[in-house]
Amino acid sequence: MHILHIVGARPNFMKAAPVMRALGCWDGVRQNLVHTGQHYDANMSEIFFQQLDMPAPNVNLGVGSGSHAQQTAHILSHLEPVVRDYKPDMVLVYGDVNSTMAAALVCAKLLIPVGHVEAGLRSFDRTMPEEINRLLTDQIADLLFTPSADGDENLLREGVTPDKICLVGNVMIDSLVRLLPVAEESTVLDNLNLQAGNFGLVTLHRPSNVENPATLASIMHALHEISRELPILFPVHPRTRQRLKASNNHYPGSMHMLDPLSYIDFLALQRLAKFVITDSGGIQEETTYLGVPCLTVRENTERPVTVTFGTNILVGRDMNRLRREVARILAGDQRPGQVPPLWDGHAAERIAQAVMTWRRSLSHIGSSLERALF
Ligand code: UD1
Repeated sequence: MHILHIVGARPNFMKAAPVMRALGCWDGVRQNLVHTGQHYDANMSEIFFQQLDMPAPNVNLGVGSGSHAQQTAHILSHLEPVVRDYKPDMVLVYGDVNSTMAAALVCAKLLIPVGHVEAGLRSFDRTMPEEINRLLTDQIADLLFTPSADGDENLLREGVTPDKICLVGNVMIDSLVRLLPVAEESTVLDNLNLQAGNFGLVTLHRPSNVENPATLASIMHALHEISRELPILFPVHPRTRQRLKASNNHYPGSMHMLDPLSYIDFLALQRLAKFVITDSGGIQEETTYLGVPCLTVRENTERPVTVTFGTNILVGRDMNRLRREVARILAGDQRPGQVPPLWDGHAAERIAQAVMTWRRSLSHIGSSLERALF
């Protein structure tokens, strides 16, 4: 069986790595990897391949930056000949980035079965580009691997048939579980001269937080105030760096503005932080697993189990609420969290098992039919 994995942006890599490893344990599975090149800086891409021990991509489409339409169109037109050439039995796509949706669309039109890893998540906020990507990908995928039961409910409500849905758990946590012992050896905190449990960690990159100068300024102002209480570490995403540069504001105090960090160093910092302030999806999940308080600067989340089970609190864009929640944590009042079911480090093995079962169920139809689709 030939599986083509398609990745493009930073949050895809830690999801694809364990799935490739798990499928590699099955006899008769051949795998290839396409990188769309949506993320191209070494510290947004290459370092993740090294640390996650992923093979180099067979093909890099080099799509780079652009508007959503430009990026999506570039992937559509450059990926189609590659998929035609590779003729995979199944394509696996990951998460909710532009590369995910564009790749699923190419394959659906070529009648190649698509599996979507991290299916069914919904913020119910269609102003988010990722929500559009999630909705479209799930409608055209053939196998939908969900991380939590709310994903199954969302898909069923949208008319997806139950036989396509497979609750496997959180595959990103597989990478975390595997690499946590390595992160425990990281010297990143010593290098920054900080103490465990005595710093806050921040990431921000959602368009809704960084594109509007007034919104970004109010968040930065609040972070600056918080940094008077304890040091704040802020690895800055390229999108955010561009916007901060354009705003020409300076934020002194104990805010350490860093370049994007590697997977291992960021994991090391997450586990030792007093709290994390973020608008990332994946970090809401990682902090829940690690039991570290997470304050999410968003009005909604497509990952509700991080709130109901985990350590996540949605503070919205209310910066007074953010300050209050930080004060509570510093006063020792933090809510305990639990790890959601199936976030156990074995989600990728369940995906591999489901893919192989799906393959066997198709074999009676015969490969001639599948080949005819090209
Ligand atoms: C994308 C995803 C988002 C994900 C995030 C993680 C979509 C719609 N969004 O957002 O879901 O949470 O990745 O990082 O797919 N840039 C660089 N170097 C890079 C990559 C990007 O400088 O290696 C710059 C680009 O020039 C662009 C900006 O960052 O101006 C945004 O990049 P883009 O891929 O469009 O979206 P992200 O904000 O990274």
